[in-house]
Amino acid sequence: MEYLSTDPVRLSEDLTVIEAIDQTQLPNKVSTIRLRTAEEIASAIKTLAVRGAPCIGVCAAYGIYVCAKRLEDRGEEVFWRELREDSELISTARPTAVNLSWAVKRMMALAEGSMGLDRTELIALLLNEARRIHEDDIATCRMISEFGLTLIHDGDSVITHCNAGALATSRYGTGLGPLLLGAERGFGFHAYVDETRPLLQGARLTAYELMNAGVDTTLICDNMASYVMAQGGISACMVGCDRVAANGDTANKIGTSGLAVLAKHYGVPFYVFCPFSTIDTSCKTGDDIEIEMRSGEELTEQFFEKRIAPRGVKCLDPAFDVTPAELITAIVTEKGIYYPPFDFGEDKSE
Ligand code: MRU
Repeated sequence: MEYLSTDPVRLSEDLTVIEAIDQTQLPNKVSTIRLRTAEEIASAIKTLAVRGAPCIGVCAAYGIYVCAKRLEDRGEEVFWRELREDSELISTARPTAVNLSWAVKRMMALAEGSMGLDRTELIALLLNEARRIHEDDIATCRMISEFGLTLIHDGDSVITHCNAGALATSRYGTGLGPLLLGAERGFGFHAYVDETRPLLQGARLTAYELMNAGVDTTLICDNMASYVMAQGGISACMVGCDRVAANGDTANKIGTSGLAVLAKHYGVPFYVFCPFSTIDTSCKTGDDIEIEMRSGEELTEQFFEKRIAPRGVKCLDPAFDVTPAELITAIVTEKGIYYPPFDFGEDKSE
């Protein structure tokens, strides 16, 4: 289970470079990319070499530290101007997962609030903060997985969409956490994995992670979920998410809302898993969440040996959709399990 002991994002031994698993190469090749500059970090996030909401947050946190470290010897004016430019570039690499801008804001607030400090001390402070964000994510994923495990039973069959496992987070993951933690404890779960068009995070990453963890795994095309649920025997749908609005509307990988509609129809509980930092109460409803639009080439060319659609065809490629709160059975965070009507001001930690 190599992936559980190798974080998808970490710092190099000399603490100057981010080392990340290149998720575009999985499952065929486990390779590492080295990210030194804000441009390289933003590009790795944009191209989904580094992906998954919590994981891009951790990458961004290390990114601010690495950029500050690279500017260590610059004069005051240049240091702050370039660090602010770098932070803007990283923060805007992708719009939907709030963890990205959340992590950059947290790192930059610390930096700006410590302006009077000696440069070496400031950089040490940023390193500690990035490490804390990473360690908190490890602990958070563990708690989410523990809570999630109370919602399913040994022998259950579940459906999942996209990838919300160790590659998208730190260690156990969110949506896959209960399955990965349960497998470690000897539970015999079965997972149907939506391939997740167009970028195939389910087929490439989730199937890889679950099989490595010894979970009985069946890959399906996204449009087979209704067939599978109609057969009966599905205990739950379990997904991660990129941003949750104050009313519980949830943005996750495109296709998630369709799965939720089907789950409602077939009476299957629909569970969403995320760290509390993914809840963005500045968005009142899902209408306030910006949905990333990507290039249509992901539909027509990427992952195909030959182009599969006529040249010039118009394509629509939203990367995420919003699942309305009324289709969600529960939202599982490290603070506990929230049921509708969602009130994230309530403390569920007891
Ligand atoms: O475009 P991606 O691959 O970054 O999308 C990822 C997802 O939609 C995940 O489900 C979400 O980020 C939760 S990851 C724990």
